[in-house]
Amino acid sequence: MFSHKEYAESADFIERRLNGFKPEFLLILGSGLGFLGYMAEDPIYINYREIPHFKASTAPGHAGRFVAGKLSGKNILVMQGRLHIYEGCQPEEVAFPIRVAHLLGARSMIITNACGGVNKDYSVGELILLNDIIKFSYPNPLIGPNIDEFGPRFKDMSHIFDASYLKLAKEIGSEQGLLLKEGVYFYMTGPQYETPAEIRAIRVLGGDVVGMSTAPECLAANHCGMRTLGISLVTNMAAGILDEPLTEEEVLSEAEKAKGYFSKLVLEFLRRVE
Ligand code: HPA
Repeated sequence: MFSHKEYAESADFIERRLNGFKPEFLLILGSGLGFLGYMAEDPIYINYREIPHFKASTAPGHAGRFVAGKLSGKNILVMQGRLHIYEGCQPEEVAFPIRVAHLLGARSMIITNACGGVNKDYSVGELILLNDIIKFSYPNPLIGPNIDEFGPRFKDMSHIFDASYLKLAKEIGSEQGLLLKEGVYFYMTGPQYETPAEIRAIRVLGGDVVGMSTAPECLAANHCGMRTLGISLVTNMAAGILDEPLTEEEVLSEAEKAKGYFSKLVLEFLRRVE
């Protein structure tokens, strides 16, 4: 468990490296989507392993560093790579960078991920705007002594995703010829993909997409009052829907194909968001 002092030490270290740059947005880039970090102007790179109390990420397609710089005129702190509970990280380690970004002044977060499509109306390659989360499994970054500086013990989670951000992303999507659907993200720890029976159960329970990230970070962000936009890229239909094995290569190759429209949406969102 971390205390407020450890979050503050990490934030102080990063602040010194940022040399006066004040991030407004935290942008978390999921599997194969880290390329947006390379578009930042006047970038400052900070590897996670240099930062006190940070853990480095080991997942495929995740660089494991912060990139601070301007994207579409906004000051952004990009996470090129994130941690997952399946890597053996504690949930508070996964959520650590979100709280540190909050201490650095970031008031908003754009969180992205690769996911499996559970809702049969979705197709591979679609971007889904998240409107809620289901996280029934045990590991949770908010368990443990509450750190009141971040938020209350029993935080309301009725609006994890900001309604006005969602509306703006939808508007931009339709201008760009993407009919963006909304959906509920169902968190599973992984690292194995789900079984077909689990996917049928997730559908009955109200999940539209399934993935192994995002939920821990969103709980921490909402706890400390950050406004959040969540975007999932459907890289495969979830287990049992098509008679095909699920592979990590497919996740990365679908992310590669989505680069153009994914970055166009995020960059225009950043340009227009207040
Ligand atoms: N399940 C869980 N996580 C995922 C999937 C999936 O089908 N695809 C990409 N990430």
